[in-house]
Amino acid sequence: MDATILNALRDPAGVPFYPVVFQALYILTWALHAAFVLLSLGAMGLSLYGATKQRNDANWKILTPHLIQTGKLSVSLLIVLGVAPLLFTQVIYDPNWYVTNTLSGIWVFAFIYALIVGYVMYYWYYYANKAGKASSPLIGFVSFAILVFCGAIMHNFAVESIQPTKWMEWYAPNGVIDMSGLNFHYDIIRLAFMVSLAIPVVGIFLQNYSDFLSSRKDFSASYIAFTKNLGTKMGMIGLVISAVLFAVWMLRDGLLFNPLVIATVLSVVLLLWMVSRSDRNSYMTTGVLVVVALLISAVREYIKYSLMTGIGYDIYNYPVNLEIPSIVMFLLTFVFLGFTGVAFIAAMAWQVGKNEGLVYDCDKNPALRKLGFSTLWILMVWMAVYFAWGMFTLFKNTL
Ligand code: HEM
Repeated sequence: MDATILNALRDPAGVPFYPVVFQALYILTWALHAAFVLLSLGAMGLSLYGATKQRNDANWKILTPHLIQTGKLSVSLLIVLGVAPLLFTQVIYDPNWYVTNTLSGIWVFAFIYALIVGYVMYYWYYYANKAGKASSPLIGFVSFAILVFCGAIMHNFAVESIQPTKWMEWYAPNGVIDMSGLNFHYDIIRLAFMVSLAIPVVGIFLQNYSDFLSSRKDFSASYIAFTKNLGTKMGMIGLVISAVLFAVWMLRDGLLFNPLVIATVLSVVLLLWMVSRSDRNSYMTTGVLVVVALLISAVREYIKYSLMTGIGYDIYNYPVNLEIPSIVMFLLTFVFLGFTGVAFIAAMAWQVGKNEGLVYDCDKNPALRKLGFSTLWILMVWMAVYFAWGMFTLFKNTL
């Protein structure tokens, strides 16, 4: 295949900054998206098991609603964090993204509705479990299946976008144009690997959960030990399953001895060792998990980048039309509003979790109070600058 047409289809305005920066941001933000995809699927999946055990088991009675809550919050985070890689991939790989949306138009629409139905059902599951309804595992299972289906649709886009040589065959099989938008293509090993990662992710989360709660007096030592052991088992078994699937995937694609893949395998081995040492501080394990997630994200991008350069579409040759004001606005937002806001929410969540009473009063913590007010002030200044700048640009260009 010759990429002349793809190169001609690139945005004539070019990209506003160096493509490598968008590529790095794509890798970073997809890893964040994946982290919450895996935590939500893992926590929800485990909660389904817990929902069947909680009647007769005191530990599962405490853990199950906590898992449901974790999954519920993670779905909202995975949606928010999915937008960023979507935007970055559209900037540098726009022909790929739009072709897949044309080939699979029905699935693009289905995705949105499936996500809405799946997430609404998740809330139904949450309330049904809270009310002790016997139907809650069934409702939860349907919601879980719909959310996994959403992941399969996303996987379809990812798989289609890295096979440009097949696009014509899919668009017009035997020369007859197929306008149905029903194209659905999958790579079962890659999908199984992605979904299997939910097991070690929830395992490591449980280790963190156990360490976090160990300082609270209202959770018994036996519950802390139960969650730690469960986390360690799930982390170790899950990592072995994922590592085997990853190796099969890489072997099939001839990438097993690629330096990036070797680095990923080595970091997984390190992670496995850290997970097995359950007496150690598990927050360090999460740090290594972050590195592994970034490496997996980089491997995905490496596969796409090398396939596309192979046919003559190189993102590094994308015309650059430096747009400094937009970049400055983006970076200032990212650093000041983003870092302060996330620091406040994370610190607040930490303190609330450590609090043993029903109400946590942030006003009694001067540092946190200051951080909260700083976030509000930065947000207000940001909104004023954002709209003023927008109006200025609009009128400068039109009047
Ligand atoms: C429950 C909902 C979701 C699940 C389970 C899910 C899962 C996944 C999975 C497994 C992949 C990797 C596919 C692969 O590499 O083979 C993926 C990729 C991706 N997801 Fe999601 N996702 C969900 C929702 C979303 C949402 C709401 C967005 C955007 C708003 C989003 C944006 C993306 C993007 C941009 C990619 C990369 C696509 C590519 O490389 O071509 N996802 N998602």
